[in-house]
Amino acid sequence: MQTILTESPEVAAGFIRNGGVVAFPTETVYGLGANLFDALAIKRIFAAKLRPADNPLIAHIGDLDQLELIASEIPESAIRLMDAFFPGPLTIVLPKTQKVPTVATAGLKTIGVRMPAHGLAQDFLKACGTPVAAPSANLSGRPSPTDWEAVMEDLAGRIDCILQGNPTDIGIESTVVDCTSPVPMVLRTGGISLEQLQEVVPETSIYKPRGNEKPRSPGMKHRHYSPRAEVILVEGVNAEPGEGVAFIGLQVPSGNFGELKVCESLEEYARSVFAFFRDCDRHGIKTIYCQAVEESGIGLALMDRLKRAASGK
Ligand code: TXA
Ligand code: MG
Repeated sequence: MQTILTESPEVAAGFIRNGGVVAFPTETVYGLGANLFDALAIKRIFAAKLRPADNPLIAHIGDLDQLELIASEIPESAIRLMDAFFPGPLTIVLPKTQKVPTVATAGLKTIGVRMPAHGLAQDFLKACGTPVAAPSANLSGRPSPTDWEAVMEDLAGRIDCILQGNPTDIGIESTVVDCTSPVPMVLRTGGISLEQLQEVVPETSIYKPRGNEKPRSPGMKHRHYSPRAEVILVEGVNAEPGEGVAFIGLQVPSGNFGELKVCESLEEYARSVFAFFRDCDRHGIKTIYCQAVEESGIGLALMDRLKRAASGK
């Protein structure tokens, strides 16, 4: 299959309307979209990414009017969170309608809904005229793509089209909040911090599966965000320099590293980390030291991604 590159949201949307799969930019990471109501097109997303069939997709909307097509009920907490953070890097899990095919939700009765705050994404979604199901546009298990070149690297020849935009702003994925329980539960930390959510709905909590309970966010049990290199999480600049060794963090380590990224802020660290992982792989780095950060604000989501990359889970 030939993968068409375009800067036109209309051209990209044409592929969606014809049952195709299209990668597109958002403010978090690039997504790989298909028409939510076209079960065959949805299956093509899973095939292109080699994604396990038990991992549900997020429905992306360009217009709030599309909500009633996909969600059968909108609890009060969801209304408050949507008022505050839509459009933005937040996904809200709601009970799904019959119209949503079960392949999209991996058999769940719920669906994650997100409205990106990204001009090109909004133009694209409006031109599609339908909600678009989209996971991140990487091969399953690889770091999420934060520029269209990373999408090419993983998916060229496997998808119909890439809508080319700038590198993404936030660099890690949306926060996923389940609003189907009495207290909203954060299933995945991300672009909206826990503190921000609690300003709007104070009871909002981080979900932690108990004992052998089935995880509520099936995706969290799969291998994630992993470069080929070994990732080691360190306090401060406690890293052993070397040619095949890389360091990313907020302070300058001593010695020479094969790849080095010193970030000026937590935001820059979050924005750069996945692209840095991919750079390291391209340059044959064997070990990547990542400086640990405080787990508050965006630091909580960043540490989640770093810990997963370090544990290979
Ligand atoms: O920022 C993002 O969220 C990006 C952009 C493209 O929007 N998308 C993204 O999708 O990261 P994905 O598929 O890579 O991650 C979605 C996560 C997975 O962990 C999945 O299990 C969880 O959200 N999820 C999706 N639908 C769910 C549902 N109905 N219930 C519980 N978890 C759900
Ligand atoms: Mg993903």
